[in-house]
Amino acid sequence: MACTKFLTLNNGEKMPVIGIGTWQASDEEIETAIDVALSAGYRHIDTAPVYGNEKAIGRVLKRWLDAGKVKREDLYIVTKLPPIANRPHEVEPTIKQSLADLQLDYVDMYLVHTPFTLFINPDGSFQFDDEGRIKVDKSTDHAAVWAEMEKLVESGLAKSIGVSNFSKEQVARLLKNCKIRPANNQIEHHVYLQQRDLVDFCKAENIAITAYSPLGSKGIAKFNAAAGVERDLPDLMDIPEVKQIAEAHKKTPAQVLLRWIIDTGVVAIPKSTNEARLKQNLDVFDFQLSAEEVAKLCALDKNIRICDFSFFRGVEQHPEFTFKNQFTN
Ligand code: A2P
Repeated sequence: MACTKFLTLNNGEKMPVIGIGTWQASDEEIETAIDVALSAGYRHIDTAPVYGNEKAIGRVLKRWLDAGKVKREDLYIVTKLPPIANRPHEVEPTIKQSLADLQLDYVDMYLVHTPFTLFINPDGSFQFDDEGRIKVDKSTDHAAVWAEMEKLVESGLAKSIGVSNFSKEQVARLLKNCKIRPANNQIEHHVYLQQRDLVDFCKAENIAITAYSPLGSKGIAKFNAAAGVERDLPDLMDIPEVKQIAEAHKKTPAQVLLRWIIDTGVVAIPKSTNEARLKQNLDVFDFQLSAEEVAKLCALDKNIRICDFSFFRGVEQHPEFTFKNQFTN
């Protein structure tokens, strides 16, 4: 049941349309999950230094590669330039650290993780002001960072480069100043936050969209609570229309949510550390949504952003922050 469907990027590279998301998984959980995922046929793995699990993922990849169970060229590994290193001089050393941790010579896709930049202390902890707000580095220069990202393609450290969490305006600005066009914009995208304008713009510019939190990222609740953010989150798998379409196809609500993303030409990276759910999330190619069902799901958009970065209290002070809602200040 391997993922044999790909999206061809603007540079000719092929990205598997389903990948495994790895945010909020402990080392132990992720080692098992990646092992299960590779056995189940996943080849696209999405990670980032801020998830804190690149070393654990690297250990599993090395075992699979050394044993000859998978070829490097069949893997699709995505990682990201973190917000604490979103500065031109930090691009190359940061990808090199990720490559060392992942035990790889190159990544398939390297993304600028966020349009904003944060300050850290020498010990790696975030800097806070007197009111407990995270300190933002307002000197962020996307064009200058991008010029360094382009060098990674030239030096072979990344096959493709892209952005994440960039707005339409931020992508448009980057397009005016680039030699290599971004191949990908990874954004929150699901039935309740479709960001149609941004998705359509990127598609028209031949920039592939990857949907993070495709299932509604229930796990973010724990993360929010730890940061003192109180909010109820919607359960996408409990939406009546989603459940009804799932029943009609004898599939689960999660499978319907994922199939809708793929059918609208977007890549999805559902996160799971559970064997049955990992397999389920890849088992989405044996049914087809009707045009009517796709339209029904498109009509569910409510502009509910789940990952609003409110867990970084104060981040909204950054000039490139575009996620303001009732939960941010
Ligand atoms: P778990 O890791 O225990 O499976 P997202 O990808 O939108 O961030 O969502 C991930 C969340 O959804 C995790 O809490 C994950 O929990 C859960 N999840 C992943 N796949 C499924 C599925 N097929 N059915 C129900 N819940 C799922």
